[in-house]
Amino acid sequence: MQCTAEEIAQKDRLEEVYQRSQTATMLSIERAVCGCDYGGSSWTTHRQADDISAALEINPDSVLLELGAGSGWPALQIVKSTGCRATLVDMPESGLQIAEQRALKDGISDRIATVSADAARLPFEDCSFDLVSHSDLLCCLIEKSSVLSSCRRVIRQGGRMAFTVISIAPDLDPKAYRRAIENGPEFIETDTGYNDLLDITGWEIIKRENISLAFAESVMRQLEADELFVEGLKTLFSADEISARLADWRSKLSAIQDGLLRREYFVAVAR
Ligand SMILES: C[S@@+](CC[C@H](N)C(=O)[O-])C[C@H]1O[C@@H](n2cnc3c(N)ncnc32)[C@H](O)[C@@H]1O
Repeated sequence: MQCTAEEIAQKDRLEEVYQRSQTATMLSIERAVCGCDYGGSSWTTHRQADDISAALEINPDSVLLELGAGSGWPALQIVKSTGCRATLVDMPESGLQIAEQRALKDGISDRIATVSADAARLPFEDCSFDLVSHSDLLCCLIEKSSVLSSCRRVIRQGGRMAFTVISIAPDLDPKAYRRAIENGPEFIETDTGYNDLLDITGWEIIKRENISLAFAESVMRQLEADELFVEGLKTLFSADEISARLADWRSKLSAIQDGLLRREYFVAVAR
């Protein structure tokens, strides 16, 4: 199938973002912010990756499905620390290729598979996995309900799902609501809350935790790290882009601290 000019431009943009994420500067910033160096784009910290492993009760016999896997964070770390196997799903292949190279370097390539697919239309048999996880994926796409249904279909009954998601705090006035949208991920809005979305798609919540305080701390570390590694950033971005980056982090931090933006952690069981 032929790609449109728009699709080609988006592919090129992503390629550039992924290549930049592997530079020494961006990896140093990521280490300071999340305690990892995979070229990640979620706010999942090393500690939260360990929490996901524990909540999913992962052991060496487990097969984990990671959606929106990007360049491998946190799935590869979970494979490394637990000895499990994982299938990493994302749409752009450029991220998955970086994940494959990292798995090779870490000596775990025999325990991972990568699949380029849409999380809303997973190309797997029913009940083919025990466990699924995703980090800040649902706020990056419109079809939240289709993704959760698709997850439910491929997970066996009683299997678990752990995920984080950024959302808009409830009951905001229109001005605060607009500020939350401006400072959140592209598809942060949802007509149906996550409790109801999970219920409708066949999931029973066993844990729902507000992790906004840790989110704010990560954004503070991001600001400090950007300032610390500013010389390296100058080799990757223009002066205007760096100023815009810092202004974005400050604005996001104040939206979290003012209680407009939330990051939550869910663990659910397939009914
Ligand atoms: C916030 S990033 C998280 C990436 C990585 N897991 C991390 O923690 O750094 C969300 C990822 O979801 C992917 N994504 C967005 N929509 C998707 C879809 N419909 N199906 C599969 N992946 C999708 C994006 O390409 C992106 O890599």
